[in-house]
Amino acid sequence: MTVEFRAGLEGIPATQSSISFVDGQKGILEYRGIPIQELAMQPENTFLETAYLLIWNELPNREVLAEFEHEIQYHRRLKYRIRDMMKCFPESGHPMDALQACAAALGLFYSKRALDDPSYIRAAVVRILAKIPTMVAAFQLMRKGNDPVQPRDDLSYAANFLYMLNEQEPDPFAARIFDISLTLHAEHTINASTFSAMVTASTLTDPYAVIASAVGTLAGPLHGGASEEVIAMLEEIGSVENVRPFLDDRLERKEKIMGFGHRVYKVKDPRANILQHLAEQLFEKFGQDKYYDIAVELERAVEERLGHKGIYPNVDFYSGLVYRKLGIPTDLFTPVFAISRAAGWLAHWKEQLAENRIFRPTQIYTGLHGSPYISIDQRT
Ligand code: SDX
Repeated sequence: MTVEFRAGLEGIPATQSSISFVDGQKGILEYRGIPIQELAMQPENTFLETAYLLIWNELPNREVLAEFEHEIQYHRRLKYRIRDMMKCFPESGHPMDALQACAAALGLFYSKRALDDPSYIRAAVVRILAKIPTMVAAFQLMRKGNDPVQPRDDLSYAANFLYMLNEQEPDPFAARIFDISLTLHAEHTINASTFSAMVTASTLTDPYAVIASAVGTLAGPLHGGASEEVIAMLEEIGSVENVRPFLDDRLERKEKIMGFGHRVYKVKDPRANILQHLAEQLFEKFGQDKYYDIAVELERAVEERLGHKGIYPNVDFYSGLVYRKLGIPTDLFTPVFAISRAAGWLAHWKEQLAENRIFRPTQIYTGLHGSPYISIDQRT
């Protein structure tokens, strides 16, 4: 059966999944069938409720959700050896590299692979969701030479992360906006980092290795690393007047505009719309951000120049403006993306295990056959 080669596996189904759905032409994203706009903007929805929905395919009732939240709170702390390991990391290291190392290190403590045991699956889900925020916040404090603060059990998942990061309890409105942002970033069908998680999961290795693979994949500037690049780009543009000259120059040099374009969406990413609205709400309450006007003008200019190619803002374009206003350092934007996307990675890990077959694609060979071995003395 010959199948046509498609660069980047564009349009090639790698699995069958019921976790989320995207219609790139209509700008539709659904988590377990629920439209993202409806889920994310529900006053009672939280990221942990979203994570439970994605992983166990049901909206938990009050009791089930409370038990899940309590388990997560209980497992937020890190083994001291992981904190000691982090003390050896160079301050100049990128937080995504620190997170990948810590995620893999969890496997040193919890490596048993009882993948057919639902209680092992649940324990791994809880540990990973609970500990990634603590790892990200701890690295931030330790790279500044400070002791990390212990998680607080009395704070929500979103509020606790902002507390551990900024060493002060966040404004409830800010924590709410962050929680919605976590839901928006949680899942997105078979993106590169989720595919990486699935390939690693298909060998039946431990879930910590799966998450470490996914973190390394998300870090790239073409994927989750774009949000950090967007802020650098807005800083480089510097003013609304410089937007079009900047864009002309970038396009002249055939360089990609960070935060724009998508393999699937050929309209504005529905998450970008919601994140733009969240940013505006934060600015109204906590003060304007000088880069917002530049971002809006850049969106307008890119639509003029590239809209015909289906290039519009993706999830990474406005997320950084939300995170900046929440006091999150720029190089932590992608680790924050990882905190959230861990829910999607774990959902696909669990789904992959339910009907697993190891990933092993083929290739179209373009090399030679029957080549002679030339001894080193004969080589030019
Ligand atoms: C995420 O997959 C997911 O779901 C990812 C994600 C998720 O939630 O997991 O949505 C999160 O990763 C969002 C994407 C973040 N990355 C960026 O913002 C980086 C900039 N974007 C591009 O690198 C690009 O759009 C990709 C990587 C996102 C998609 O790349 P594709 O599908 O391989 O498209 P391509 O590079 O083949 O481009 C097709 C055409 C080219 O023009 P032509 O050569 O055909 O004339 O579109 C152009 C590209 O030059 N193009 C861009 C562009 N993106 C595509 N031109 C300028 N700026 C851009 N950003």
